[in-house]
Amino acid sequence: MADRNFDDLATKFARKIYGGSKGAIRMAVLERDLRDAGLFENPPARMLEAGGGFGLFGQRFAPLGTDTTVVDISQAMLAEGQAMWREKQTVATDKWGTITWQHQAIQDTQGAYPLVCCHAVLEWVEEPEVVLSQVVERVDESGTLSLMVFNEVALVWKNVLFGRIEKVLSERLHGFGNSLTPKHAFTIAQIEAWLTERGMVVERISGVRIFHDFLNPTVRERLWQSADTYLHLELQYSTQPVYRDMARYLHFVCRKSKA
Ligand SMILES: C[S@@+](CC[C@H](N)C(=O)[O-])C[C@H]1O[C@@H](n2cnc3c(N)ncnc32)[C@H](O)[C@@H]1O
Repeated sequence: MADRNFDDLATKFARKIYGGSKGAIRMAVLERDLRDAGLFENPPARMLEAGGGFGLFGQRFAPLGTDTTVVDISQAMLAEGQAMWREKQTVATDKWGTITWQHQAIQDTQGAYPLVCCHAVLEWVEEPEVVLSQVVERVDESGTLSLMVFNEVALVWKNVLFGRIEKVLSERLHGFGNSLTPKHAFTIAQIEAWLTERGMVVERISGVRIFHDFLNPTVRERLWQSADTYLHLELQYSTQPVYRDMARYLHFVCRKSKA
């Protein structure tokens, strides 16, 4: 399979996700959207984290009683996630749900769940439409899908800002082979159409990291000294269409319509 396995990136990714502003903003926007969808107030009994890596959302929901399955083709990502989860077990109560870690491709999963999270995965697989079909099949009737994808608009901006206009003009923006640039990037219209064709109703679209990735590093570091104020800015603009449409990632919260 030519989908991008993250075995060689697990340690780097762990530092980025947990250590820095990038991970904190991503978590804040996704959590806000899932909270507004009522999922923390009424946590689902079960959830699937597809291409879940460290199982960050499984680790968020399991303490609320949700039994989680985290599926990934990278053994190293799953192992890092399991280590983080073991550390949290010291404060676990009998109300906590379980996490099952499965070394498996999304394409080989079975069953249906009231909540499916698929974050930053479609851009790394060979055939995103095929994988999206599989992901949607895993959502229960009336269940929720939280889907985050890499935004093409931001990829164009970023390349222009770095002066790589030849790449932009010839539309050679995507990574190849084991590159650190994702294989694909998507537009809102494309993802909305794919979701609708598959029987999903899009309830909310937010932008993840509106300004952050475009800031001059010195300004970024200074602003992050007041992390709460900076998070407030990102959250406030994440839902306003003009800004949202330029974000590094796009978050879709959708519900499966009854057949
Ligand atoms: C950018 S990481 C995102 C991890 C996690 N969802 C998150 O948001 O932190 C992409 C993950 O997708 C996994 N992956 C890629 N193709 C996959 C597939 N076909 N089935 C399952 N996992 C896959 C990679 O191994 C990697 O862990």
